[in-house]
Amino acid sequence: MNRCKLQFMLPVLAGFALLSACEQTAETDVVSETASVELPNGMTVKEQIEVRQGHLKKIGKAFKAISDQLKAGSPDLAQIQTAAATVPTEAMGMADWFPEGTGPASGIKTAALPIIWEDKTDFNDKVGAMQDAAAKLDSIAQAGDVAAIGAAFKTTGGTCKACHDKYRKDD
Ligand code: HEC
Repeated sequence: MNRCKLQFMLPVLAGFALLSACEQTAETDVVSETASVELPNGMTVKEQIEVRQGHLKKIGKAFKAISDQLKAGSPDLAQIQTAAATVPTEAMGMADWFPEGTGPASGIKTAALPIIWEDKTDFNDKVGAMQDAAAKLDSIAQAGDVAAIGAAFKTTGGTCKACHDKYRKDD
């Protein structure tokens, strides 16, 4: 990577030979990605994947807690409120959890599909849609109207599904 950047900084005079050498280096870098490769954010690929899966597990757990309560005969509002507050907190910074190089080609177990990095703009839009919906769900949950919570929960769930259908490998 660094070698690649350096080559780009060399005078234009250096010409095509160097550029193509750089391309080759970049390709080799992708192929040789391993658990210990350090990302620009200082985390290793393995750490980054584990961190995002950890956040997503907590989001999933909170989501299930809300779903369970909404299905219950008499929903426990306090539990819904705690879980609804967890989702936006855990989802903070989600667009940064998927740096280049943290896909399945890394060799680390991940359900993130390679197409994430082919359309990062759309992926990040979907991140934003979920974060917005989750923030609304949280404020509606704190207000305490169970019917309104149900509707906001459904909307938020739709934003999870919209991303998973396209960007997450099926189990
Ligand atoms: C913008 C895309 C996107 C959105 C929005 C999204 N997810 Fe995901 N989710 C993913 C990807 C990609 C993975 C796979 C991550 C991996 O394995 O590295 C994943 C994985 C998960 C996992 C499995 C975590 C694990 O490793 O055990 C759960 C649970 C989950 N998501 C729940 C949710 C819920 C609930 C929402 C909505 C509130 C949501 N996700 C919104 C993309 C998204």
